[in-house]
Amino acid sequence: MNIVETEVIRVQHCSARGVTLLTSKPEGFAFQAGHYARLSVPALAEPVWRAYSIVSAPHEPWLEYFFTVIPGGALSPHLGALQPGDTVLMAKAAMGFFLADSLADGEVLWLLATGTGIGPYLSMLRQQGVLQRFDRVNLVCSVREAADLAYDAECRAWAAQHAHCHYVPVVTRGEVAGGLHERIPTLLRSGALEQHLAMTPLDPQRDRVMVCGNPDFTADMRALLNERGFTPCRRGLSGNMLFENYWQKATP
Ligand SMILES: Cc1cc2nc3c(=O)[nH]c(=O)nc-3n(C[C@H](O)[C@H](O)[C@H](O)COP(=O)(O)OP(=O)(O)OC[C@H]3O[C@@H](n4cnc5c(N)ncnc54)[C@H](O)[C@@H]3O)c2cc1C
Ligand SMILES: NC(=O)c1ccc[n+]([C@@H]2O[C@H](COP(=O)([O-])OP(=O)(O)OC[C@H]3O[C@@H](n4cnc5c(N)ncnc54)[C@H](OP(=O)(O)O)[C@@H]3O)[C@@H](O)[C@H]2O)c1
Repeated sequence: MNIVETEVIRVQHCSARGVTLLTSKPEGFAFQAGHYARLSVPALAEPVWRAYSIVSAPHEPWLEYFFTVIPGGALSPHLGALQPGDTVLMAKAAMGFFLADSLADGEVLWLLATGTGIGPYLSMLRQQGVLQRFDRVNLVCSVREAADLAYDAECRAWAAQHAHCHYVPVVTRGEVAGGLHERIPTLLRSGALEQHLAMTPLDPQRDRVMVCGNPDFTADMRALLNERGFTPCRRGLSGNMLFENYWQKATP
C-alpha cells in the first residue's frame, strides 16, 4: 500500500463519542463524493488501518472525516486523541463503490443513514453536481440523541437553500424539532416517513435509495427494499439501491 502523511488541522468532539477531524489533503489526491480513505496513526506498535468516509467535497482543499470513538477499538480511540499538528497516515488511493453515479436514472434519491453514516452524503451535498441528476433528494439521518446530529445545522441550511432537497432528522432516544422518532425501516414499513414528506410509498420505478451505517440497519433495509422490488447495483450494472456497511458485527 502506498502511504502518505497528512497533518491534523482541527479536531472537534461534537458529542460524547462523535468526532469531526480535518486534515491536510495530499498534493494530487483525487476522490469522488462517496469514496472512503484508509487511515492509521504512526504511534501504534502494529499498524492498524480502518476505512473512513470522506465528508469533505472533492473540490475542498482539506479532508474531513466524522467518526465515533469505539471504547477499546484498535484505531478510533487513537484518532479521537489527535491534536492539531499531529500526523494521520493515509493510503494514497481513495476507495469504494458507494457512488450515486452507480444508480440508474430515477426521479427521487433517498439518502438514508444511521450515526456517522451521514458522512458520504455530506460530501455529495457539498458538491451539489452529484444531486442535480434527481428531481428530488431526501436526506434522512437516524441517531440516538439530538447531540449526535453533528451536521444538523448544515443539513437544515442545505434543505432550506434547495427547493428539491429535503432533510429529516430522526432521533430514536430523544426529541428533535421537525423530526421523527422511530427507526428508519419502521418508519418506511408504516409509511410514516413518506407521509412526513408528503410522498407516496417507496417505488422502484421512481426511487433510488442509498443506505449507509449500522450493519443491522443496512440488513433491515436490504430486506425491506427487496420486498418492494428494488434491485442492487452490481459491477457494471446500474440498480436502484446501494449499500455501505460500516462494520461487521462481532461474532460471539
Ligand atoms: C467503507 C467503510 C467506511 C467507514 N466509514 C466510517 C466513518 O466515516 N465513520 C466511522 O465512525 N466509522 C466508519 N467506518 C468504520 C471504521 O472503519 C472502523 O470500523 C471503526 O472506526 C472502528 O474501528 P476501531 O479500530 O476503533 O474498532 P475495532 O477494533 O475494529 O472494532 C471493535 C469492535 O467495534 C465494532 N464496531 C466497529 N465500528 C463500530 C461502530 N461505528 N459502532 C459500533 N460498533 C462498531 C466492531 O464490530 C468490533 O466488534 C467505516 C467502515 C467501512 C467499511
Ligand atoms: N451515541 C451514543 O450516545 C452512545 C452511547 C453509548 C455507547 N455508544 C456506542 O457507540 C457505538 C455507535 O453508536 P451510535 O449511536 O453512533 O450508532 P448506532 O448504535 O448504530 O445508532 C444510530 C442510530 O441507528 C439506529 N439503529 C440501530 N440499529 C438499527 C437497525 N437495526 N435498524 C434501524 N436503525 C437502527 C439507532 O436506533 P436505536 O436508538 O433504536 O438503537 C440510532 O437511531 C455503539 O457501539 C454504541 O454502543 C453510543
